[in-house]
Amino acid sequence: MQRILVTGGLGFIGSHTVVELQQAGYDVVIIDDLSNSQLSVLDRITSITGMKPDFHQFDLKEKEKVHQFFQQEKIDGVIHFAASKAVGESVNEPLKYYENNINTLVYVLKAMNNNQVENFIFSSSCTVYGQADELPITESAPVKTAESPYGNTKQIGEEILKETTTVSNLNGIALRYFNPIGAHASAKIGELPIGVPQNLIPYITQTAIGIREELSIFGDDYPTEDGTAIRDYIHVVDLAKAHIKALERLIENRNKEKYEVFNVGTGSGSSVLEIVKAFEKATNQDLAYKIVERRAGDITAAFADTTLAEKELNWKAELTLEDCLLSAWNWQKKIHENTLVE
Ligand code: WQD
Repeated sequence: MQRILVTGGLGFIGSHTVVELQQAGYDVVIIDDLSNSQLSVLDRITSITGMKPDFHQFDLKEKEKVHQFFQQEKIDGVIHFAASKAVGESVNEPLKYYENNINTLVYVLKAMNNNQVENFIFSSSCTVYGQADELPITESAPVKTAESPYGNTKQIGEEILKETTTVSNLNGIALRYFNPIGAHASAKIGELPIGVPQNLIPYITQTAIGIREELSIFGDDYPTEDGTAIRDYIHVVDLAKAHIKALERLIENRNKEKYEVFNVGTGSGSSVLEIVKAFEKATNQDLAYKIVERRAGDITAAFADTTLAEKELNWKAELTLEDCLLSAWNWQKKIHENTLVE
């Protein structure tokens, strides 16, 4: 049985990917420092799949521990989620982001090279494109100057991976996520934002359940049909499945280059107001909102050209926007019931 390391495997996208890996027949080991996740997620993963992943709690910045881990464990592939990911926070704390997102990547790649582990999937982001000149966005769209230290760490991370694959046996795939939303159908795992949610969907569900007064829509003066910004919202389970496809491409040596990049989105965009209306329709909940000024750093529109992932990974998003919003709402209600979030 192939044994896969998932760093950040108790986080939002990580936990959904662990579930899909286990259900695809992989043996999973997680490293997570619990800085942006909860230990209870481990039991929730187990209750979904009936299989408890091995779990090691440590910070990947502790390079000796990273090295020891790879010396002691037989690993066939790595999916690397562990990173800080709050765009706004990264502007205020750049060094935290460069240290956490870059050093950890370097330590994991070095340990992989030292222990002949050759298959690596990198969690990247459409944020590397900034405001693309053409829509939908293809993988050959230029990477633009990052708008935040967070975005810069993704760009630098891709470069580190690419250059490392050219001088070692490592093969790497960077998956550029668009906007991951939703939750597992079981409502046992989902997004657990700490404090005030930065992202749209958790803010919407917290407003609908009464934790937040009303949603602030950041600007309705964008050059779009209804004036609000457009994004490509993809169900986190579809995104998780893309990681399995990418990993299998490497394990089965089907990659055409040692370093490859794939956009992972649905291929269609939705405006903020369209999301609000779709949420109200899907959940039969009225949503209080107001229009405020634009948020600094936001782009007008982004949605993926998914041709390459469909062709090379044999992967396509299958869940609908309604599935996304309903699952996010069911998860929010479950949290509320269990007062999961401290
Ligand atoms: C979506 C839209 C906001 C909150 C970021 C990162 C990206 C990835 C996903 C990590 C925008 C609007 C939001 C609110 C609003 N993160 N909005 N009111 O900014 O597209 O992407 O998160 O990988 O890298 O850049 O996602 O959910 O913050 O915003 O109007 O309270 O919703 O202006 O148009 P974003 P988001």
